[in-house]
Amino acid sequence: MSARPYVLLSCAMSIDGYIDDATAERLLLSNDSDLDRIDAVRAACDAILVGAATVRQDDPRLLVRSARRRAERVARGLPPSPVKVTVTGSGDLDPTARFFTLGDGAKLVYCPTGSAERTREQVGAVATVVDAGEPVTPAAVLTDLAARGVRRLMVEGGGSVHAQFLTAGLADELHLVVAPFFVGDRRAPRFVRDGRFPWHPGRRARVVEVRQIDDVVLTRYALSDRCPPG
Ligand SMILES: NC(=O)c1ccc[n+]([C@@H]2O[C@H](COP(=O)([O-])OP(=O)(O)OC[C@H]3O[C@@H](n4cnc5c(N)ncnc54)[C@H](OP(=O)(O)O)[C@@H]3O)[C@@H](O)[C@H]2O)c1
Repeated sequence: MSARPYVLLSCAMSIDGYIDDATAERLLLSNDSDLDRIDAVRAACDAILVGAATVRQDDPRLLVRSARRRAERVARGLPPSPVKVTVTGSGDLDPTARFFTLGDGAKLVYCPTGSAERTREQVGAVATVVDAGEPVTPAAVLTDLAARGVRRLMVEGGGSVHAQFLTAGLADELHLVVAPFFVGDRRAPRFVRDGRFPWHPGRRARVVEVRQIDDVVLTRYALSDRCPPG
């Protein structure tokens, strides 16, 4: 059996812990330098996962932007960008979303058995729909990704997905960027929802790096022994 992929969580939030505002517009939290850092992190991964709500709300491309990094991946025998992965319970995904239409690489959609038929109807023509059992768990997704050769997975949100990997103890590293402003609106989504997290006052996560990137601050946390020291 293949080893579970290394799981790296990446998130940008406001000073008060929000990852978006409450409007339909996408809130930009990172700056250009940090987006370039994220691009490098993406380029070093085999797959990128976001929740279906992020696909619907942000319509992200999830591609490696830098031509040099894409060329370096191809020279190593990899596709230009990582495999794109999402999870849905409803199957409510638009096949014209950029997740599906941009990039030639594989797109994987994990769903529970009960919505597999609907999900295949919606996006079966533009993605591989995987019936991941009932309910879909991060562990099941990781097992299937490992069998497909994914060794390093980047999870880019949103809060529901981050919380599931964290509470399941299936995250190895967290890149948390804090943008220098407040959102101040509790209707907006937070980095994570409520849950029982393995890191609490009695078990503190290990900081492996703190870096100022122009006007934002990146903190890298090691969440497992698999995360190399700073
Ligand atoms: N600042 C950042 O770094 C950042 C990054 C990404 C996203 N965001 C923001 O995060 C917000 C979205 O976050 P969110 O927490 O609402 O949603 P999310 O984590 O993006 O997606 C949640 C959705 O994913 C599906 N899902 C998740 N776990 C599942 C499971 N175990 N089984 C089946 N389906 C599952 C469900 O889709 P269905 O509803 O289809 O059933 C669920 O509604 C947006 O506002 C976005 O802008 C911010």
